[in-house]
Amino acid sequence: MLEIADFIPSKYNNTIDRGSFSWSAPSNIALVKYWGKKDKQIPANPSVSFTLNNCKTITSLAFAKKQNDGNFSFDLLFEGKPKEDFKPKIQKFLERVEVYLPFLKDYHFTIDTQNTFPHSSGIASSASGMAALAMNFMSLEKALNPAMTEEYFLSKASFLARLGSGSACRSVKGQVVVWGNQSNIKRSTDLYGVEYPYEIHPVFNNFQDTILLVDKGEKQVSSTVGHDLMHNHPFAERRFAQAHENLDKLIPVFKNGDLEEFIKIVESEALTLHAMMMTSLPYFILMKPNTLQIINAIWKFRNETKIPVCFTLDAGANVHVLYPNEFKENVLQFIKAELVGYCQNGQYLCDEIGNGALSN
Ligand code: DP6
Repeated sequence: MLEIADFIPSKYNNTIDRGSFSWSAPSNIALVKYWGKKDKQIPANPSVSFTLNNCKTITSLAFAKKQNDGNFSFDLLFEGKPKEDFKPKIQKFLERVEVYLPFLKDYHFTIDTQNTFPHSSGIASSASGMAALAMNFMSLEKALNPAMTEEYFLSKASFLARLGSGSACRSVKGQVVVWGNQSNIKRSTDLYGVEYPYEIHPVFNNFQDTILLVDKGEKQVSSTVGHDLMHNHPFAERRFAQAHENLDKLIPVFKNGDLEEFIKIVESEALTLHAMMMTSLPYFILMKPNTLQIINAIWKFRNETKIPVCFTLDAGANVHVLYPNEFKENVLQFIKAELVGYCQNGQYLCDEIGNGALSN
């Protein structure tokens, strides 16, 4: 396991004047949710997620040597066009990671980024975006230090992505990623995401996630504010303990493919996440009426057909519908017949479990 000190490099052997890299990184969907953090993006509880395959950010990083004048210098393009609104988040990210990437002020960067999912679909691009950017910076660091191991590269990319957005650290690798220290999961750490290290039943192969876009509007309360409201939250300590318990319960479930138990844990996690929002001060609700309509329709369908389909939610109104690949046809038919009407403009995205970031 790597420690923080391992991520502070000593002198680099190589020099490089200019060049460019390009990486894609996917989004991920948490089964056990990260909600609440300590200082420096350290999670208050561990989480586990499925890495997705289709919802991705593709980011290229061009770099050219400059005088180190003590400032960061970068242009930010979204879909090829300058995007000033994204710059403060990147500036903050660079400030946070500078100690781990001491070359950052030696270059001018052009960061060009785009998503495979529709802009303003309500799908958060912070996880995939920060992961893709972190991979690019690691490619540059590897050019400066070619002896770097693959394991170091990936762990540090996840560590850096975490400093951009917590859940981003789970988007570097696939297919099931654990972030946060959990005593029963070897090598798990608060510092970066690790591939789930134990047996996973084949029922999870190509597991499907159909994302129903219920509300594409700007969220009233950001995740960052929501995390913060877990400080002094009346149920915080119990909730953090419960996340550990649920993660432990998933270990045999991943092994034996017990979907009944899987569904109980995953749906309870989703509703607990939203219960935390509803019981914080100030309280808030991110679900919409159609979120509840969809949940009820899924429960009815599951009861009637015995098809093991369930839902999860992230910090928003959209619903992720999770189910084994073998039921894809039936579930998609059900979605088209009964759920599409609850989606904004009838929009939904078909995704499935995937393998993590890729170099382009
Ligand atoms: C509800 O990773 O978006 O999706 O670390 O402040 O950037 P920051 O928060 P973020 O929080 C995601 C929370 C969640 C649950 C999860 O993905 O585990």
